[in-house]
Amino acid sequence: MDVTPKATFNLSLQSAEEIIEKNRGDSGQRYDLIYIDPPFGLQREFQMIEADGTKKSFQDTWTSYDDYIDWLAKIIDGLFGLLKKDGWLYSHNNFEGNALVLGKVEKRVRKSFYTNISWVRSHPKNNIRIGWGNIVDSIMVLRKGNPFFDVEYSPLDSTYAANSFRNEDERGRYALAPATGEKSRPGHQFEYKGWSPTFGWRYSEEKTKELDEQGLIHFGKNKPYKKIYLEESKGSPVQNIWSDIYNLTRTEQNKRNYPTQKPLKMMERIVRSSSPPNGNVLDPFCGSGTTSIATFNVGENRSCDTFDVSEDALEIARRALIELGAGPLIYD
Ligand SMILES: C[S@@+](CC[C@H](N)C(=O)[O-])C[C@H]1O[C@@H](n2cnc3c(N)ncnc32)[C@H](O)[C@@H]1O
Repeated sequence: MDVTPKATFNLSLQSAEEIIEKNRGDSGQRYDLIYIDPPFGLQREFQMIEADGTKKSFQDTWTSYDDYIDWLAKIIDGLFGLLKKDGWLYSHNNFEGNALVLGKVEKRVRKSFYTNISWVRSHPKNNIRIGWGNIVDSIMVLRKGNPFFDVEYSPLDSTYAANSFRNEDERGRYALAPATGEKSRPGHQFEYKGWSPTFGWRYSEEKTKELDEQGLIHFGKNKPYKKIYLEESKGSPVQNIWSDIYNLTRTEQNKRNYPTQKPLKMMERIVRSSSPPNGNVLDPFCGSGTTSIATFNVGENRSCDTFDVSEDALEIARRALIELGAGPLIYD
């Protein structure tokens, strides 16, 4: 009998501070993935006026930017404690915000810094006069323990395919991957067909022989390689520059319901890659619910808890989830 609980989507009118306070302690460590997209400390009110005149807004005003960074550092420290022993925390901000906050968080949190993703959120700007155009957001990635990760591949672009898959045999075009060790990662030492690579073979003697018998070893001029056929290639793994996801614009019909709403494709990428099936996701700055919707779309029984201090935001998220047929939906 399958005893896995059914995925739930929890939306609640509570602040990130309250959620951290209520869940302190070991029992609160229940999230595999936490994504935050808080206000960026920009000293303004974000608002959108709908065609029917209704206004949706949230405040991003602070005593000072330093005060904002202190607040955000405490939030990230607190949320880090809500991750399971293995989990990811993604902090979406601008570069300055993430850089300053990384210098302010507790040492154990700072040490969990894994990478920074640059999300190219807009097309190049033409009206640049006094400096470089800034078209990226920063998504700082913190890694606790040894969390789940599923590599995403993007389709090979034709220039890359032409440059990398240059060799050809009766099975088709192929690229060359290392079959030998490296200075920093020496491999297995043995001689095969007259080759004894300086830093050894990447595979055991038995495995190397097996690959060769399958025609999968390419003996180059200077060293042997493993063949990777274009036909079987999954594409190129997505790295930490995301330039294939466009931001939402106001002109797109029904695409944007809330100020600073993030693209669904971006959130689906984060949820799919960084939370396991049956896993739990948390977004304490729900906004229009993009993280919950992405979690529902990615599926495989992942659950998502979202919180916000704005009733408008939660109502938009709730409506979107109901429309999708997400359930059980817990709304309080
Ligand atoms: C940048 S928006 C999030 C947008 C969201 N990622 C989306 O795709 O729609 C930030 C949200 O944080 C909420 N917020 C601000 N301060 C908060 C706090 N202390 N706790 C929880 N939510 C807060 C705001 O009401 C706003 O909806």
